[in-house]
Amino acid sequence: MKFFIDTANLDQISEAQQLGVLDGVTTNPSLMAKEGITGKENILKHYVDICNIVDGDVSAEVVSTEFAAMVKEGEELAKLHEQIVVKVPMIRDGVKALKYFSDNGIRTNCTLVFSAGQALLAAKAGATYVSPFLGRLDDISTDGLNLIAEIRQIYDNYAFDTQILAASIRHTMHVIDCAKIGADVMTGPLSSIEGLLRHPLTDIGLEKFLADYRKGNN
Ligand code: E4P
Repeated sequence: MKFFIDTANLDQISEAQQLGVLDGVTTNPSLMAKEGITGKENILKHYVDICNIVDGDVSAEVVSTEFAAMVKEGEELAKLHEQIVVKVPMIRDGVKALKYFSDNGIRTNCTLVFSAGQALLAAKAGATYVSPFLGRLDDISTDGLNLIAEIRQIYDNYAFDTQILAASIRHTMHVIDCAKIGADVMTGPLSSIEGLLRHPLTDIGLEKFLADYRKGNN
């Protein structure tokens, strides 16, 4: 399972990278705005800055919603750095753009996916990644994990190459549950990754080991 961090915050990306388990980054226009990154030049520069911190794929989202404009924007993003994956929303022109990018060797992440049908369409269009938003489904009392399981079954039935990128992860149990289902990738906040680390018995056990060592080695 690949671990992506879902942020545009360079400090958090660096921290996750230093942990040694980071495989990539996802961003979206809201996350960029949260960091105060505005204006085309600043936005493009920020994507390059992220690529220079992390070893792995960096999703950069198009803000156009019409086919020709999406293609132009996506091609510009893809040229920024070899690690860039063009993030495309699951809308009619987005599906056409996914197919265009796939035919032209540009890797994509189909975002804002909320149903198995949308995920099937994204795979048919040749998306590299599909991003079902499980947290946002959970928020409206719909089972987000069930959607991940449905997509896993469909992709396995037909051996689609599209990777399931479980998105909108809110906490560590989402990560564990997605791993059990077989999501290829998860993207979430740094806290969802750090939560995997913690167990009180580890802390108690280490304290005892070190205390016993000190008794015989002082
Ligand atoms: C996916 O790539 C999105 O950036 C993200 O996971 C959305 O998460 P949210 O629902 O926490 O905003």
